[in-house]
Amino acid sequence: MKEINISGVLEKIIERADFPILKCKEILDKEITTILGYGPQGRGQSLNMRDQGFNIIIGLRKGDSWKKAIADGWVDGENLFEIEEAVKRGTIIQFLLSDAGQIQAWPTVKENLEPGNALYFSHGFGIVFNEHTKIEPPKNIDVILVAPKGSGLTVRTHFLEGRGINASYAIYQDYTGNAHNRCIATAFAIGSGHLFETTFKKEVHSDLTGERCVLMGLLQGAFLAQFEVLREHGHSPSEAYNETIEEALQSLYPLVAENGMDWMYSNCSTTAQRGALDWAPKFYNVLKPIIEDCYQNVLNGNEAKISIESNSKKDYREKLEIELEAIKNQEMWIAGKQLRKLRPENI
Ligand SMILES: NC(=O)c1ccc[n+]([C@@H]2O[C@H](COP(=O)([O-])OP(=O)(O)OC[C@H]3O[C@@H](n4cnc5c(N)ncnc54)[C@H](OP(=O)(O)O)[C@@H]3O)[C@@H](O)[C@H]2O)c1
Repeated sequence: MKEINISGVLEKIIERADFPILKCKEILDKEITTILGYGPQGRGQSLNMRDQGFNIIIGLRKGDSWKKAIADGWVDGENLFEIEEAVKRGTIIQFLLSDAGQIQAWPTVKENLEPGNALYFSHGFGIVFNEHTKIEPPKNIDVILVAPKGSGLTVRTHFLEGRGINASYAIYQDYTGNAHNRCIATAFAIGSGHLFETTFKKEVHSDLTGERCVLMGLLQGAFLAQFEVLREHGHSPSEAYNETIEEALQSLYPLVAENGMDWMYSNCSTTAQRGALDWAPKFYNVLKPIIEDCYQNVLNGNEAKISIESNSKKDYREKLEIELEAIKNQEMWIAGKQLRKLRPENI
């Protein structure tokens, strides 16, 4: 356990060394972990647990995920079951269906929970927005959360590379008195790097804001705005793409990840430095109120409501495909598709 002090805020970080895999196995010795769902998180978390020798089964409906699981070596009737049966057989139930799927499957899951089970989430959505999701767990179970701070695909690739992905954890309900140990042991069983504590609410509010803003929404908006300005002023697609995206993702962002933005500002040309120092506050002034607005909409449940309502429409998939196709067909990403192929490692 490491204590860190950032601007007077003390935080406890739990590291792998605090919970070596042998200790996690002792804690989970008598448990059967059921993983419901085989999207990026379900697949990544279950394969990492299987590779580390934990007692684990998968619960799915018969469909695309079922086929993927079979292809990955899960065996029907041995460690792969339909959802109802898988919940009955498990003691720790990892609820990793899509957030919309969780709403639909909840009645089946709830009916088959036993006193003393643990219900595990990788996102606080279902519990925090239960006014909309109706996911209200019974009082006689543990309710825990481990939220990897990255894509489920990274959960798997980092594990295979011998690294880990940092995750937050939270205890919502401790019925057995053992919720903390169950939560932390499972977090390292799925391949987490280090863990920091949160609450279901804090996790969902920061996560929804992050994906709407800097991680995806704001990023796509900023990329497109700069790409279009360059194109409208006669720059070629290659030039606009390289100056906007390729240089960012391939060169600068990894350096920022490694060393911080202060280092980046100290290690670029004086021309870049002057310009970035002058322009950053202009973006800050425009963006901060928008991000605050987004956070307020997350906080008051609007964003959850929009997401649940749009997901439950019959033509949701159809409409989504049209929206995604529109992004795919933006000149910026058409350029990206062609230019990525020309990276030296791809030739
Ligand atoms: N994606 C991430 O990187 C990430 C990161 C951190 C946390 N999380 C959280 O982790 C959880 C899982 O996310 P994910 O991205 O891995 O999965 P996802 O792509 O959102 O969900 C896919 C899984 O849900 C199943 N599913 C959907 N609707 C269903 C229904 N009505 N009945 C039964 N199964 C249903 C799908 O099965 P079929 O193939 O049969 O449709 C599939 O196995 C979510 O709570 C998410 O917020 C995700």
